[in-house]
Amino acid sequence: AGTPYLKVTPSRLKTMTGRRGKDAWTALGGRVYNITPYVAFHPGGGPELLRVAGRDGTRLFGEIHPWVNYEGMLASCMIGMLVEEGEEKK
Ligand code: HEM
Repeated sequence: AGTPYLKVTPSRLKTMTGRRGKDAWTALGGRVYNITPYVAFHPGGGPELLRVAGRDGTRLFGEIHPWVNYEGMLASCMIGMLVEEGEEKK
């Protein structure tokens, strides 16, 4: 059996903003990452990184630094897959 990844809907993702004591999650390329531990280390600064918190960051990330290998960097932060509303129950 593989690792039991979470199925994360956009509405669930939206609650994970990194604010009010919540962790910061983002989706990149269909994968969901808990970026909380990386906020303090991001070379572009925490506030810039947190612009992708609570949402799909694929496009913004790709506009800024498409050469950055986020899959490698954030492998240990990957917590699940982005799915459509309702898909999380299947
Ligand atoms: C630089 C990772 C999201 C803005 C970098 C660098 C890495 C990185 C590794 C250094 C790249 C290099 O020097 O070639 C990440 C990861 C992200 C993320 C893993 C998402 C999970 C963002 C977002 C923004 C952003 C959302 C802005 C909206 C920047 C900027 C720099 C930078 C401005 C340049 C900093 C400098 O060289 O002074 N990021 N980043 N990043 N990042 Fe990000």
